[in-house]
Amino acid sequence: MRMYDIITKKRNGEILTNEEIKFFIDGYVKGDIPDYQVSALLMAIYFKGMTPEETANLTMCMARSGDIVDLSLIPGIKVDKHSTGGVGDKTTLIISPIVASLGVKVAKMSGRGLGHTGGTIDKLESIPGFKTDLDRETFFDIVKNVGVSVIGQTGNLVPADKKLYALRDVTATIESIPLIASSIMSKKIAAGSDCILLDVKAGSGAFMKTSDEAIKLAKAMVEIGENVGKKTIALITDMDRPLGTAIGNSLEVIEACDTLKGSGPRDLTEICIELASNMLCLAGKGTIDECKIAAKKVIDDGTAFKKLKEMVQFQGGDVSVIENSNNFKRAKAEHNVVAATSGYISSMDTEQCGIASVILGAGRENKESSIDFSAGIVLQKTIGDYVNAGDTIATLYAGDISKCISAQELLCKAIHISSKEPQSSPVVFARVTTDGTEKYYN
Ligand code: URA
Repeated sequence: MRMYDIITKKRNGEILTNEEIKFFIDGYVKGDIPDYQVSALLMAIYFKGMTPEETANLTMCMARSGDIVDLSLIPGIKVDKHSTGGVGDKTTLIISPIVASLGVKVAKMSGRGLGHTGGTIDKLESIPGFKTDLDRETFFDIVKNVGVSVIGQTGNLVPADKKLYALRDVTATIESIPLIASSIMSKKIAAGSDCILLDVKAGSGAFMKTSDEAIKLAKAMVEIGENVGKKTIALITDMDRPLGTAIGNSLEVIEACDTLKGSGPRDLTEICIELASNMLCLAGKGTIDECKIAAKKVIDDGTAFKKLKEMVQFQGGDVSVIENSNNFKRAKAEHNVVAATSGYISSMDTEQCGIASVILGAGRENKESSIDFSAGIVLQKTIGDYVNAGDTIATLYAGDISKCISAQELLCKAIHISSKEPQSSPVVFARVTTDGTEKYYN
């Protein structure tokens, strides 16, 4: 078999066999096939696409390129959730304890912040002492005993994706549905859960800018999941505004705790109930409506919050910051951003809000940068709110005031004020299952 022939076949729009896909993935991971030939194949895939079967084969070859976690040693159904990335997305911290307190195990490997989007591991590490690099035995023990554990990616998980993602990033081949779908699903399959809930974000802060594009990606991923025997559902959710009010690591942990105590922002609470009930439903815990009632109940009676505290304790974290957010270290500088004119907050450029939080120190400017866990933004107003000129619209937190001033400039351009009241939109745009797509927008 020759790589040259595989490139030619795809360039001509033909279907690759599983053997050909395996040859290219194995050869690339071993270093036998050079970047320039893989780049050519990626570009051919970008233009000619892949059939669902080819995409499923690619995903499985990628998943098998490294370790596959065997969660069968942990009794019970394990459900995973993946978000395609957003700003202020702290849902994992909320839904994992909800689901675990209802008897569904969550053994989750999460990532760090990427570009303007935050990462669950950075958020968890803002809790003093919290360990995200547990060995496999400790990770499994916590999942068995507590029902939930969230750690960073360990071992040699999907090395093919690490190489391919870096190459796609520099060859203009990121925006290809089969390539994104196989990249995400190979990691979910290697992580070993029985069922997968996908949170595909759509909007100005997301990878997919429109709901229709997000639905296409979701359909491809649901099909892969089901093809390899994992029950998979995707929700398409709003990323045209930051999720909740807090952006930044310890600020988001505080907001997650408030939400688990029943006093979180409306949009965040609603999205978390939707996500948690779909995870419970995937695990066979009842209909969506029954699971929604159950999810609300464990928030109201405090069980879910208690579960988060248990997980924090088992992973070495300081539970006192979860019990009382005043125990978190505070940022040295604090600055209010005020509205320049009166009117309705009509829209927000969410990506720019994320970049403003990176400037404040909540994200990394480059791979080597360290994070200021207390830095970030708390939005005091959201889309649809009426503001008078001079009202505070956001509070910024950073290590020094100069960072607040730079971030303020960006944030003022990102938050648009208009005389017209904007139309309200749902937080969940659609639900994609093997049975079809339910749309909640026109
Ligand atoms: N996230 C991933 O993990 N892979 C992609 O290709 C895009 C987003």
